[in-house]
Amino acid sequence: MKFFIDTANIDEIKEANAMGMVDGVTTNPSLIAKEGRDFKEIITEICAIVDGPISAEVIRLDTEGMVREARELAKIHKNIVVKIPMTIDGLKAVRQLTADGIKTNVTLVFSPLQALMAAKAGATYVSPFVGRLDDLAQEGMALIEQLVEMYSNYAFETEIIVASVRNPIHVLESALMGADIATIPFNVLSKLAAHPLTDKGIKAFLDDWNKAKK
Ligand code: E4P
Repeated sequence: MKFFIDTANIDEIKEANAMGMVDGVTTNPSLIAKEGRDFKEIITEICAIVDGPISAEVIRLDTEGMVREARELAKIHKNIVVKIPMTIDGLKAVRQLTADGIKTNVTLVFSPLQALMAAKAGATYVSPFVGRLDDLAQEGMALIEQLVEMYSNYAFETEIIVASVRNPIHVLESALMGADIATIPFNVLSKLAAHPLTDKGIKAFLDDWNKAKK
């Protein structure tokens, strides 16, 4: 399974990249706004750090506006993937952009039928938001299970990016279910590496080593 990092923060991207854990990056308007800097500048910097798909989201909601914005974003770098919201206008934009050879990531997907439509429109990626479903007491990972099965039934090439990841269990279950990608916030990525028995073991080894030296 590929790991994308879900952030627009350059320090976090550099740190995760140094661990070899970044196959791509996803951003959204909220993550960009948090950085308080120019959108294009941030995306250009990310493209210089990570050699993989970098998702940048459109703001316009009409098909024509989305397509125009997407074409501008795609000019920034060859690795740009344009994030398009899951709406009827969005599907029309995806269809046009796919025909132009521009990669798309259909975002804010909360049902299997939305994901089916995104794949039929030719989306490169689809982003089901598991954490936000969990927040409404609907099991987010059940959606991933359905999507993996549905896409494999028809051999769709659209890749599943598990998004709105909130904890390590989301990542573990994504891998067990065979999702293509999980896009992981930096705080969750750090938790994946941690185990108290690892820390305890390191301490015990060093204590024994130091005692023997005395
Ligand atoms: C995905 O591409 C989104 O940027 C992200 O995963 C949303 O996560 P949130 O629900 O924690 O905001």
